[in-house]
Amino acid sequence: MRDAKRRVAIVPGGAAGIGAAVAGAFGNAGLAVAVFDVRPPAEQDSDRRAHYTVDVSVAEEVEVAVSAVAERFGRLDVVVNNAGILDCHAVDDTPEEVWDRVMAVNVKSVFLVSRAAIPHLRAAGGGSIVNISSVHAVATVPRLAAYAASKGAVISLSRQMAMDYADDGIRVNAVVVGSVDTQMGVQHGAAMARDGVVVAPSKGQSAALLSQPSWPKPSCSWRRPRRHLSPGRRSSSTAACLPVCFELCSPAHRKSPESGDSRSP
Ligand SMILES: NC(=O)c1ccc[n+]([C@@H]2O[C@H](COP(=O)([O-])OP(=O)(O)OC[C@H]3O[C@@H](n4cnc5c(N)ncnc54)[C@H](O)[C@@H]3O)[C@@H](O)[C@H]2O)c1
Repeated sequence: MRDAKRRVAIVPGGAAGIGAAVAGAFGNAGLAVAVFDVRPPAEQDSDRRAHYTVDVSVAEEVEVAVSAVAERFGRLDVVVNNAGILDCHAVDDTPEEVWDRVMAVNVKSVFLVSRAAIPHLRAAGGGSIVNISSVHAVATVPRLAAYAASKGAVISLSRQMAMDYADDGIRVNAVVVGSVDTQMGVQHGAAMARDGVVVAPSKGQSAALLSQPSWPKPSCSWRRPRRHLSPGRRSSSTAACLPVCFELCSPAHRKSPESGDSRSP
């Protein structure tokens, strides 16, 4: 990333899984990184790394933490809205409080962190917001009602934000992540086993076809009691989405305040 050593990034949910990989990669590239997480820090704070214990679904906590990052590092350039939780229910057995919590952590947090960050990104002359969505927003498996809805909302919100902040030089993108081996991935696997959701190709469809990034047609059916199926294979590494995050966080496409050049985000 160009000028990486001047840049400052916030990674909500950066204490584990994909967020930890993103935060680590940013740190290796020279960015200062602030992790917001409800978990304890994954590594010790340093002059280029700070952990804030924050529930990103709570506005007051988010506002205090974003201000603290801007004060500590002097600027803000990148936000990767990665914090998320999974829930495995269908609509008819999803408890209301579970629905609300999934929406709060997966969608409202994107709104809250972005709202707090945007004035600082503007002050830096532009920046990049990457919102982590999921394949389940577009091609899902049984029993992910709240989760799939939340990740669909992340895509819609990202599209809206991209339009609203293009003139500020703030690029906004959603990354649609496939299956990745993290604690969340393990949790999903266990829930599918519990619920009898079977990972297998549909009749007449090969496993190779299912591993294609764009699935040509809906690949699952739902037949009780043998609930059926997940399309892709689990990726072997959280590193899978790192290059995408890096590219999307690059300042290369920013609006230049001098030239007024603003490319579409
Ligand atoms: N793992 C996958 O297969 C997969 C697939 C598609 C999308 N995603 C998305 O990627 C993102 C990261 O997932 P992961 O697999 O690394 O999950 P993970 O469970 O390993 O890590 C999620 C992190 O978010 C933190 N977090 C949860 N609630 C929080 C809150 N209220 N405030 C602050 N931090 C909070 C957790 O403590 C944890 O550190 C999520 O948005 C997830 O929906 C994951």
